[in-house]
Amino acid sequence: MKTINLDIQHLSHFCGDTDLSAMSAEVLKARKVLMEGSGRGNDFLGWVTLPEDVTPQLVDDIKGEVARLSSKAKVFVVVGIGGSYLGARAVIEALQSEFAAVQRDGKFPLVVYAGHTLSEDYYCQLMELLEREDYAVAVISKSGTTTEPAVAFRIIKAHLEKKYGKAEAAQRIVAITDAHKGALHDIAVQEGYHTYVIPDNVGGRFSVLTPVGLLPIAMAGYDINLLLQGARDMRRLCVEKDTLADNPALLYAAVRNVLYRKGRKVEILENFVPQLKYLSEWWKQLYGESEGKEGKGILPHSLSFTTDLHSMGQYVQEGERLMFETVLSVAQPRHSIAIPDDEQNLDGINYLLGKSLTEINHNAELGTILAHCDGGVPVLRIEVPEVDEYYLGQLIYFFEFACGVSGYVLGVNPFDQPGVEAYKKNMFRLLGKPGYADK
Ligand code: PA5
Repeated sequence: MKTINLDIQHLSHFCGDTDLSAMSAEVLKARKVLMEGSGRGNDFLGWVTLPEDVTPQLVDDIKGEVARLSSKAKVFVVVGIGGSYLGARAVIEALQSEFAAVQRDGKFPLVVYAGHTLSEDYYCQLMELLEREDYAVAVISKSGTTTEPAVAFRIIKAHLEKKYGKAEAAQRIVAITDAHKGALHDIAVQEGYHTYVIPDNVGGRFSVLTPVGLLPIAMAGYDINLLLQGARDMRRLCVEKDTLADNPALLYAAVRNVLYRKGRKVEILENFVPQLKYLSEWWKQLYGESEGKEGKGILPHSLSFTTDLHSMGQYVQEGERLMFETVLSVAQPRHSIAIPDDEQNLDGINYLLGKSLTEINHNAELGTILAHCDGGVPVLRIEVPEVDEYYLGQLIYFFEFACGVSGYVLGVNPFDQPGVEAYKKNMFRLLGKPGYADK
């Protein structure tokens, strides 16, 4: 079994052996607290054992739903926001063609998203698509009361019922929500939707390995058993290995906290392959919501290289020294393409002949790391053997586990998100929601 690896060789000026051995005791203590469930937020630790807890029966049920729904839908709408859609989108966009919308093999539906925005134009465009194509829907909300997905679902449900009739519409909707409470739970019971439960003890941003992520990922045609296997193998490493050298999640948590205490308040997650862009979006929610509280926390930011080297590269190289970088470095592409020979060489790039694009990209990556290090930015590299379901499963669990440990080292509750409520109260008051007039 290969595993993702954390390379810290470009950190030495900023975070040396002495820093790491001093931090080692803290991360080991934080892991103990996490594993014993004795820390803050310990009623939201269901994600720790999720890779083992997902039963073969649940996977079979999801596969059954995929077979049933993909026989009648060309488009699958995932309605959800935050943790109720980002994990699924991260995995699907990492695996599917960048041109999936126009390159379908017809076996699995195109997954599209709703409930993550309140843009009227977005919904007008979406409804145009849904008017034309056969579709089915997963509506996902742990609380079952979040405004954005509720608004989107009301629009889509009305359209679906008009298009197919109420009985068939109910056959095309799957609800993923709380087992007992919430508006979505009540609608699902009344309408007789197929439902999946989000466990009480799993928070939204840690829920990708529940049906929240598994159903949409399987609908898009990807192997959820492999994803879970990757997560299981990474879990074993995270909980069994006791040294920073052997345990990449503990090492990542340690390095982040050393750098933070030395004034590095921003972490930029970078990829050199655009299909990982949504993994960064998922990661930003995971770390931003888990650590950004009580006036503390590393600000998670992301860039896609080499694209953003031609925009934000300038700032990283020479701007304020407040960041460190974590590069997602993918070893192997899944496809290859040759650079054609050109005798005239007017573009001057014949020196690249015989090199693969990945070799060129890896040199761009190394050149960037060396330049940024020289410019005073610490750089971490997460080596990912390949972008497939198995290594995405490893990455997901690696980031989740490191997040729990890192949050405890930081001294916050990594499993709540009280700050998310503030905008909602204002919005409800401004929109005249009953009960909010005097808030
Ligand atoms: O991490 C979280 O818990 C939040 O960001 C939620 O994922 C997000 O607000 C959506 O909540 P819900 O699934 O209840 O609709």
